[in-house]
Amino acid sequence: TGCGVVGQSFMQLLVRREAELVKNHGFRPRIVAVVDRKGAAVNPKGLDLEDVLSLKAEKGTVAASREYGHPDMSALEIIESVEAEALVEATPTNIKDGEPGLSHIKAAFKTGKHVVTTNKGPLALALPALTELADYNKVCLRFSGTVGGGTPILELAKKGLLGDKIVSIRGILNGTTNYILTEMDERGITFQQALEEAQKKGYAEADPSMDVDGIDAACKLVIMANWIMNKKVTLKDVEIQGVRNISPSALEEASKKGCTLKLIGSIDDGLKVKPREISRRDPLCVGGALNAVTFVSEFAGEETIIGRGAGGMETASAVLRDLLYIKQDLASKLIV
Ligand code: HSE
Repeated sequence: TGCGVVGQSFMQLLVRREAELVKNHGFRPRIVAVVDRKGAAVNPKGLDLEDVLSLKAEKGTVAASREYGHPDMSALEIIESVEAEALVEATPTNIKDGEPGLSHIKAAFKTGKHVVTTNKGPLALALPALTELADYNKVCLRFSGTVGGGTPILELAKKGLLGDKIVSIRGILNGTTNYILTEMDERGITFQQALEEAQKKGYAEADPSMDVDGIDAACKLVIMANWIMNKKVTLKDVEIQGVRNISPSALEEASKKGCTLKLIGSIDDGLKVKPREISRRDPLCVGGALNAVTFVSEFAGEETIIGRGAGGMETASAVLRDLLYIKQDLASKLIV
């Protein structure tokens, strides 16, 4: 479900890596349905993804397929009626009520499907409830692509620091605003020009105010707080300030002190997203659309992970990784 930048990139990735996935992972996924805003394409034997992608590019909807198109069917009907092992949920984030992603995820759980999602809305609003529901239905929920695009930020914290205790987290969690601030700082272009460039590059959310007002970073912070630090928090618990009011002169002032301004999300006593002055020598001070997160752990100290935090192919790689994790997880349970 969801056939925008991420959904289409995921299909392209499967086409490109088909042989390798079979050879290295014994993984040959069959995509039995693809749903966009205008309907669905369904074939229980497996859709030809190159055809689906061309149809989407030419006609604007996958439902235009003469043989497999269902312009009349909703995503929910598809999830409930089509037999499948997993749902990849890549509809746009909506932080008001999490829809339509939230209903898609719940319907998938109820019909015994594992879920991989890149949609931050349902998680920012209801991650504890969704993990419980997944457990109750004995299915997996994975969401690596919701934080850091393709960069395994959640995995580093959850698996890499297993046995240690993460006491605080701070980071640049939004690629679009980091791109805007970097380009304003380095090339002296305006906020609006930089935002348009970020949109063209596919970094920004469908509604870019999600990025510039700090909400996207706040959603990611909530996901990290719940998943990594076991805090039961939602978006309401985050103090949020975006980057709209950052002027070129504020950037110049920071520069004189060997610093720059970055939109930083932090979890310590509370959860905050706000522009902060940071030293250019701080490992967090990364440019372009990069994300960087510093974990402060009780014993291992500080670790910073840096990587591309946005983009279709980057996020698609996280979706694929999550599916492979689910496959491994299921295989290990069978062996036990
Ligand atoms: N709009 C987001 C960003 C995409 O710019 O970081 C990745 O979540």
